[in-house]
Amino acid sequence: MSSATAPAAPRTELPGAPQLAYRDGGLHLEEARLEVLAQAYGTPLFVYSKAAMLAALAAYQHGFAGRAVQICYAMKANSSLGVLQVFARAGCGFDIVSGGELARVLAAGGDVGKVIFSGVGKTRAEMRQALTAGIGCFNVESEAELDVLSDVALSMGLTAPVSIRVNPNVDAKTHPYISTGLKGNKFGVAHEDALRIYRHAASLKGLRVVGIDCHIGSQITETTPYLDAMDRVLDLVASMEHAGIAIEHIDFGGGLGINYNQDAPPAADALWRELLAKLDARGYGGKKLMIEPGRSLVGNAGVCLTEVLYLKPGEQKNFCVIDAAMNDLPRPAMYQAFHAIVPLAPRRDIQEATYDVVGPVCESGDWIGRDRTLAVAAGDRLAVLSAGAYCMSMASNYNTRGRAAELLVDGAKVHVIRRRETAADQMRHEQLIQD
Ligand code: LLP
Repeated sequence: MSSATAPAAPRTELPGAPQLAYRDGGLHLEEARLEVLAQAYGTPLFVYSKAAMLAALAAYQHGFAGRAVQICYAMKANSSLGVLQVFARAGCGFDIVSGGELARVLAAGGDVGKVIFSGVGKTRAEMRQALTAGIGCFNVESEAELDVLSDVALSMGLTAPVSIRVNPNVDAKTHPYISTGLKGNKFGVAHEDALRIYRHAASLKGLRVVGIDCHIGSQITETTPYLDAMDRVLDLVASMEHAGIAIEHIDFGGGLGINYNQDAPPAADALWRELLAKLDARGYGGKKLMIEPGRSLVGNAGVCLTEVLYLKPGEQKNFCVIDAAMNDLPRPAMYQAFHAIVPLAPRRDIQEATYDVVGPVCESGDWIGRDRTLAVAAGDRLAVLSAGAYCMSMASNYNTRGRAAELLVDGAKVHVIRRRETAADQMRHEQLIQD
């Protein structure tokens, strides 16, 4: 397995941002040679490209040119402060789902007036926090939540701006865990109940109805589910207007997929060209639009660098044990998700073999890639691609593993946006029993 025979051709097809490329025998993100960063900062290490994030945002901006649109980055995809700062400076609002995320927006200098608050389980304390901060809109997910929010707002002498999340009952054709627009999902209110619930909202003294929203799922790679959802939402807007309930904006959520492995989602501008044509055809082209993209803004802007610890040949499988694990990259374990894995410095002196790439966590579910063909030796470094979204934001301390460090690359400049977590950091809030 480790003897030098046929040279392995370096893999050149890289899913993701054009800012990631092999040059001079090594993988680069923008101007940064990733092997050098891994040596300097250690592994596992997340590295993001600012240019890739801004290019992904530009695709949306291009698609919306000349329209009244607010792009609210769904920060659950990656809520690291340095990443939020990039989007805040680019004029984005934020889609949040907790009081903690609101605190992050404020810490990153985001415009709180452009914040929308989604989620099925907002607490009274979170509602108060968001009302005090002055967020732009609450995306309400149930009738019961409307009543509580009105109560909380009235107790503060305020009125809360609300939109109701409507479940259009459209199949987003994605993994069941990340499909949210079907009847059996916990999200939103049923399409057939929406008008009645809007009437109820309009009657509550603590609320001001400002919009309607929907979000049908994540990693969507087809245009049709979006077109169908838009039709369903616009049907509802028409009957609301008929009933005398006016709204200022329509929010179509997020969900656009990225290329992990020969996925071919529409480009953001192409998708919106089609959606805007429908909006215009149905006479709603002048309405203010909101969208909540997460993955499509950051997913392919980031990689996770890792070192090969051991090669472990087996009867049925060869294992490539790396120093990143399911606590750093939870998507394969949770959704059987595919992330491409490539060498930082492709080798021609080692024969390729097929490995399951696994982490050090004590679970069989701790795999990062299955049946991958790699030419590697212990000590080599690899990049796990498409790791900008739903990796660090879902990372945990399982097995008391410190969370990885994060870097943001901007041309040749490298910013440390999160230092590596130590064991002391992890134990900071714990105490021994005193007796
Ligand atoms: N808006 C709402 C209300 C959402 O629930 C979500 C994602 C988004 C926007 C952003 O969706 P995106 O553009 O990122 O697809 N952890 C899973 C994805 C969970 C998505 C949850 N909601 C994964 O790693 O695939």
